[in-house]
Amino acid sequence: MTSVLERLSARYEDDLNDLIAFLRIPSVSAQSQHRDDVARAARWLEEYLRRIGMNHARTLPTAGHPVVYAEWIDDPEKPTALLYGHYDVQPADPLELWETPPFEPDTREGRLYARGASDDKGQVMVHLAALGAWLAAEGRLPINVRVLIEGEEEIGSPSLEPLLRAHPELLRADFIVISDTTMFAEGLPTLCTGLRGIAVAEAHVTTAASDLHSGLFGGAAPNAVQVLCELIAACKGSDGKIRIPGFYDRVVEPTPQERAAYAALPFDEQQLMKSLGLPALAGEAEYTAFERTTIRPTFEVNGMWGGFTGEGSKTVIPQEARAKITCRLVPDQDPEEILELLADHLRRLCPPYARVELQRGAGARPWKASLEHPSTQAAIRALEATYGRRPALAPSGGSIPIVETLDRLTGAPMVLMGFADPGCNAHAPNEFFSLETFRTAREACARFWQEAAETF
Ligand code: BES
Ligand code: MN
Ligand code: MN
Repeated sequence: MTSVLERLSARYEDDLNDLIAFLRIPSVSAQSQHRDDVARAARWLEEYLRRIGMNHARTLPTAGHPVVYAEWIDDPEKPTALLYGHYDVQPADPLELWETPPFEPDTREGRLYARGASDDKGQVMVHLAALGAWLAAEGRLPINVRVLIEGEEEIGSPSLEPLLRAHPELLRADFIVISDTTMFAEGLPTLCTGLRGIAVAEAHVTTAASDLHSGLFGGAAPNAVQVLCELIAACKGSDGKIRIPGFYDRVVEPTPQERAAYAALPFDEQQLMKSLGLPALAGEAEYTAFERTTIRPTFEVNGMWGGFTGEGSKTVIPQEARAKITCRLVPDQDPEEILELLADHLRRLCPPYARVELQRGAGARPWKASLEHPSTQAAIRALEATYGRRPALAPSGGSIPIVETLDRLTGAPMVLMGFADPGCNAHAPNEFFSLETFRTAREACARFWQEAAETF
C-alpha cells in the first residue's frame, strides 16, 4: 500500500496532465456535431486503460455512443468490483460566460477549470489513476476489477441497458463503485445514499389554425400561451405542492430516524440562500431545504415559449405554445406512471377551445442504497484514513439513470463515493475540480481497493 501511495505522490503532475488531455476532447453526447469527438474520447480512454495495465480494454459499439470496458481479473475466486463512470459531458453553452474556454483546461486558484472537470471525467480519472498506481507499484490489484465507462449518461443512458442485457458477463460483480456525485461540503468526503429519478416531457398547446390579429379577434379567440400558463399553474401551487392527482401516491415518507440524520448533516440554509442570491427559498414549508432538494419529488418547467418574442411589440394572439418539463422522482415513484398522470391531468383541464399533447422523453427510477454491505464499510475506512474525518452519508437530489438499472439487473450493493465540490458548477459555465481533491481522492480510491479486499 505504501508503494502505491508513493507512486501516486510521484505521479501527481502526470496524472493531472492525463486528465487535462482527456478534458480537451469535447465529448458532448447531446449534440450531433460532437459525435466524432465522443468517439475520440472513447478511444482515448481505451488507450489509457491499456497504458495503465488493465486487460481486455475495448470500445463496445452501441446504437448510440460507445461504452469503454476493461478488466483486471486475477483470480476468479476473489471478489470482483465493477467501476462505473461516464466520459460524456453536458453542452458547454452559454460559452460567453466561461472565463477560459470550456475545452481548454485552465488551472487557477487551486482549481482545474473545464467542462467535465467534475462531471465526470475528473472523478473517473481519479479512479483510473489509483488503479494505474496499484498496477505499476505492486503489479496487481488487491481484488478483481471491471471498468465500464459510458458515453450517454448525460442523455439518460438509452443504449446502456440493451448492451448490458446482451452482455450480462460484463456485470458479473460482487459490488459496484461509482464516483459521479458531490461532497457534502468542501473537504467533507461523502457517500451518496440515494438518487432521485426523473421524468422528462414536453407539453404542446395549440388553439386556432393560425396566429391572429389581437384587435380583430381578441376577446373571443383563445390564446395558446395563456392556456399553457394556466395548465402549468395547475400542476404546482405556490406552496410547492404538486397538484397532479395521484402524483404523491407512491412517495415514501422519511422515517423519524432518517429525518433526524438529515437534520444532523452540516447543511446551512442561510448559506444556500446567500450562494444562490435568494432572499428566501421556495417549496414545501414542512420539509427542510435539504429534504426538499433530495428526498421530495419536484415538478419544474425548464423552458417555455410561444408567440412573439422579438424586438418591439406585435399585436398577435399565438396559436401555439410549448413547455419543457422535468419531474425529479423519489422512491417508489415510476417515471412512466408519472407521465401518464401528468398527461391525464393536462387533458382533463384543457379547455374545449385548445388541444394539449404531451411528448414523453427519457425516464429514470429513483434509487436508495442499502448500506449494510462490507463495501460501504471499506469506503468509510478508506475515506476516513485519507481525510481524517468520517464521511457524511447523505442522499442527493441528482439522477444517474443507470444506477437503478444496475441495481435491478445485478442486485449488487453500490458504493457512491462523491468527490465533486458542491459548488463545482457542473452543467454550468466555469465547471471546475479542486486540485487538492484530485490529489487526495486518488489516494482514497487506492486505499479503497485494499480495504475492500480485506473486508471480504
Ligand atoms: N453526475 C450527475 C448526477 C449527480 C450530480 C448526482 C451530483 C448526484 C450529485 C449526472 O451526470 C447528471 O447530471 N445526471 C442528469 C441525468 C439526466 C440528464 C437524465 C441529471 O441529474 O440531470
Ligand atoms: Mn455525472
Ligand atoms: Mn451531469
